[in-house]
Amino acid sequence: MPLSVVILAAGQGKRMRSDLPKVLQPLAGRPLLKHVIDSARSLESAALYVVYGHGGDAVKAAFSGEAVHWALQAEQKGTGHAVMQAMGAIADDEQVLVLYGDVPLIRAETLRALIARAGERSLVVLSVMLADPTGYGRVLRDNAGNVYRIVEQKDATKKELAVHEGNTGVMLAPAGSLRRWLGNLKNDNSQGEYYLTDVVKLAVRDGFKVEAVVAPSEAEVLGVNDKLQLATLEAEYRRQRATELMLAGVTVLDPARLDVRGHVSAGRDVVLDINVVLDGTVTLGDRVSIGAGVVLRNVTIGADTVVHPNSVLEGALVAERCSVGPFARVRPGTRLEAGAHVGNFVELKNTVLGAGSKANHLTYLGDATIGAQVNVGAGTITCNYDGLNKWPTVIGEGVFVGSGAMLVAPIAIGAGATIGAGSTVTRPVPAGGLTLERTEQRSVPTWKAAAKADPEERARRLELGGVPPEGPSGPKSGA
Ligand code: UD1
Ligand code: MG
Repeated sequence: MPLSVVILAAGQGKRMRSDLPKVLQPLAGRPLLKHVIDSARSLESAALYVVYGHGGDAVKAAFSGEAVHWALQAEQKGTGHAVMQAMGAIADDEQVLVLYGDVPLIRAETLRALIARAGERSLVVLSVMLADPTGYGRVLRDNAGNVYRIVEQKDATKKELAVHEGNTGVMLAPAGSLRRWLGNLKNDNSQGEYYLTDVVKLAVRDGFKVEAVVAPSEAEVLGVNDKLQLATLEAEYRRQRATELMLAGVTVLDPARLDVRGHVSAGRDVVLDINVVLDGTVTLGDRVSIGAGVVLRNVTIGADTVVHPNSVLEGALVAERCSVGPFARVRPGTRLEAGAHVGNFVELKNTVLGAGSKANHLTYLGDATIGAQVNVGAGTITCNYDGLNKWPTVIGEGVFVGSGAMLVAPIAIGAGATIGAGSTVTRPVPAGGLTLERTEQRSVPTWKAAAKADPEERARRLELGGVPPEGPSGPKSGA
C-alpha cells in the first residue's frame, strides 16, 4: 500500500518568543522539522507533505533542497483542517500517516510498528502513557480495550481527565476514508476547531477497527513549544546519541557533556573527552583519542591519531598516527597524511601535510601541498592571498622551513631545501642547499638607550617627526 506522510507545521509557536518559525528552531543543529522529515524519509516509499502556515515562506525556503510537497493552511482552524489541506494530491488507496513538525524525536521504528497494523478498514493512533497527561487529548477505550474516542483536555469530563493514556497526534488511516471523515468534521467544541481526533468516533461509527499503539517512551513523542522544552529535548537527544556510542564501545568520559549532532561511526577503543561536539559525518578509526573541547565537523580520522584539547577540525581527512592540537584549526580541504603533526595555534586550509611532516607552532598554511618529512618552523605563513586571488604553495619532501618564514605564493620549494629563519621568499626555491632572504645583521656599539624626554625635548622631537605638538587632529576615537 502506498504511503503518504502529512507533517503538520502550520502552528505559530508564539511561546518560542522568536522571529524564527517554531519548526525551524534548531535541535542538535538541525531544524525541528528536519528531524521529522528525516524519520519520515526512512520509511520506505513515502511521499511527504508538509502543511505550513501563512508567513511560512521562511519554512519553505529553509527546505528548498528537500523533495517535499507543500500545502498551505492560510488560517489555522485545527489539526483536522490542517490535514485536509494536504489531501488533495493523495489517492484514495494510499495510507496517510500524520506527524507533527514540532515532535522531533519520533523514531522510524515506532512508525513502522504503526504501519504494520495498517489496513483498509483500520485506523491506528499512537498513544503514550503519561504520569501527568495535562494538556493532551485522552484516548478512551471500552471495557474490551478498544478505542472508541479521543477527547481533548478542554472538552473532557472529570472522569475522562483521569485517563492517563494521551494522544500523541500521530495517526495512520486509509486516505479515502480519512478524506470522508475530515469532510464530516464539525467545529462545535470548546476551541471552535476542526479536530483531527474526531475522526476516531467517525471511524468507529463506520465499523472500522481503531487501535492505539502505545509509544515505548515519552521522550520520543514530546512536542516543543518553548525554549525550555527545546533544551529538554536537546538533552534527551544528546543522551540518546551518547548512549548509542557507548553501547558501540566508545569510551565517553561524560555522556552529559558530549554533543553528537550528526552521524558518527567509530572503531574500537575510541575515547571522547568532555565537551566534544561531533557534527555532520564523523568517522573515527580504532584507538582515536579526542581531547576536551574539540569540535569535529565532517571529518575522517585514522587509527591511533590523537586530537588534543580545544581543536576545531572541519571538512578534513586525517590519516593514522597523527597528532593535532591543542588549539589547532583545521579547515576544509585539508588532508594530513600518516604521522603528521599539527601543533598549537596552527591553521590549515585546503592543505596537504605529507607523511611525518610537522607544523608545530603558530603557523598558517593555506592552499599548500607539502611533501613528506617536512619541518615547518614556528610562525611560518603561506602568503596565499593577494587581495583578489588565492595562490598555491608547493613544498617538496624533506624541506626545512626556518621559523618566521613568509612564503609568498605562488611558490614552489624544491625537495630537501632549507629556508633560513625570517626569510620572505618570493621566487622558486631550488632543491637542497640553503635559501636565505635577510638583510645583513649589524651592531651599533655607541647606541644609547632611550631616556625620559623633558617637555622641551619632547616638543622638538615631535616637530622633527612632522607631528603637530598638540597631537594629531581629526575625530577622536570613541567619540
Ligand atoms: C493535539 C491533539 C491532542 C494531542 C496533542 C499532542 C487535536 C485536536 N488534538 O492537541 O489530542 O494530545 O496534540 O500534542 O488534534 N497545527 C496545524 N494547523 C492547525 C492546528 C495545529 O498545522 O490549524 C499543527 C501544529 O503546528 C502542531 C500540531 O498541529 O504541530 C498540533 O497542534 P496543537 O495546537 O499543538 O494541538 P494540541 O491542542 O496540542
Ligand atoms: Mg500541542
